[in-house]
Amino acid sequence: MSATRIEDERRHVDLSRELISLWTGLFKAVRLYEQANDSVESQCSRIRELALALMNDSGELELTVRRDSIFVGRLRIKQGAMGSTAYPRLIALLCTAGISSVILDEDVENWEIELFARISIATADARSEPAEMKNQLERRGVQHLTVQIGQMDEPLAEELTADQLARRIYLNSIGVVKGVFQELKTSNRLSARRVKRVVMEMVDSLDRDPGFLMSLTRLKNYDEYTFNHSVNVSVLSIALGRHLQLQRNELSIVGQAGMFHDLGKLCVPKEVLNKPGRLTPEERLIIQSHSAEGFVEIAAKLGASHETIEVALAAFEHHANHDGSGYPRAALTREKGLLSEIVSIVDRYDAMTSARVYRSNPIPPQKALAIMYHSQAAQFDATLLRYFMNLMGYYPLGTTVRLADNSVAVVVGGSAEPELRHFPKVQLVLDPDGRPASGHTIDLAATAKDDEPLAVMETLDALDYGIEAMDYIL
Ligand SMILES: [Fe+2]
Ligand SMILES: [Fe+2]
Repeated sequence: MSATRIEDERRHVDLSRELISLWTGLFKAVRLYEQANDSVESQCSRIRELALALMNDSGELELTVRRDSIFVGRLRIKQGAMGSTAYPRLIALLCTAGISSVILDEDVENWEIELFARISIATADARSEPAEMKNQLERRGVQHLTVQIGQMDEPLAEELTADQLARRIYLNSIGVVKGVFQELKTSNRLSARRVKRVVMEMVDSLDRDPGFLMSLTRLKNYDEYTFNHSVNVSVLSIALGRHLQLQRNELSIVGQAGMFHDLGKLCVPKEVLNKPGRLTPEERLIIQSHSAEGFVEIAAKLGASHETIEVALAAFEHHANHDGSGYPRAALTREKGLLSEIVSIVDRYDAMTSARVYRSNPIPPQKALAIMYHSQAAQFDATLLRYFMNLMGYYPLGTTVRLADNSVAVVVGGSAEPELRHFPKVQLVLDPDGRPASGHTIDLAATAKDDEPLAVMETLDALDYGIEAMDYIL
């Protein structure tokens, strides 16, 4: 570790210890004093100052309690020479109130800090439901301080394997999308921060190991299609963006564009959105309005910024095709931006491979890729589509395949060598005679140079074989 990093870390620890003492002091002070008290006010100011000094690149500071430790940002702060009882008292108080973390953002105001302290104390004293505390904070207009509840015993990120962490990020982001979409119905402003946070976690997870998080996009939840689909489109858009070597800040925007691209569907009545039969022309128009509605909602509620406009445009343009087909008409006349191109391709792929009310059998990934590449190529940007095919590999994880010896297997990994990517790693499901196989994994690439390589002959529909692809991947 370089000398400056050691110095930075030491400073972080010192400020964090001061912050811990201040929080404990504030909780005590709000018990003693009513509102508009000087001592409470000055503690809130100092907490705010310290939080600003400790914030990460995205302008946030998270204080987390896990078991017997407090984390400030990503760093575990040891009690060390704090020489007081502030540390254990803060843990005890937050745990009693059911709070596992508090996140302050750069716009946080003193009154929000004070109100949070008062509500937390009341929650801890009355042992009331932590969820109610979250509601109260929202009702009273606290926007720049978020609490997370009830995960004190969850393992720390550093204790998880990359796969477990990716799984947690994926499931957590579905919860976040759901929350944000629901918030839209009641609020005039959307806080994009939570979405940004999970998007950056996805970017990091894809940096560590792109395969696993991408494979999770095959977990399709039919009941909660829109939320699931939004997260899938986000993950795959980031993955495609990485493949195109976009910068981290661009990946953040592309990930948000994926999350929000169908936000306008909230404006479409459920009966129309989930109608199993054929749509009337009027109903089709209502569904099609979701791109323009999405644009308006995002532009109006996400706050004006360069990022917001890009995200809103992706929502506006994601059904406008290159060959002039699609909608809305206004989007067809202008050249689409890169983000919209990425989201369009990924959106189509995820929609095709998902079960829907009007199509109970999803199209297998391989077939969906083939349809996009052969029949729909004119609708997309040709270069990006090629990049996408290349990214997804010939046989995406979880694809059910028949091998040259007639056995049936599920693709569980790609080949390390690009020129052998049509020889993936597979796990056997049925032997050549159709009997359940031992389930061992074979690297087909190892047979590529044999006289009779164990090649993939065709992709199969997993449903026909009663195969739950995710059982093999998770
Ligand atoms: Fe859409
Ligand atoms: Fe979509």
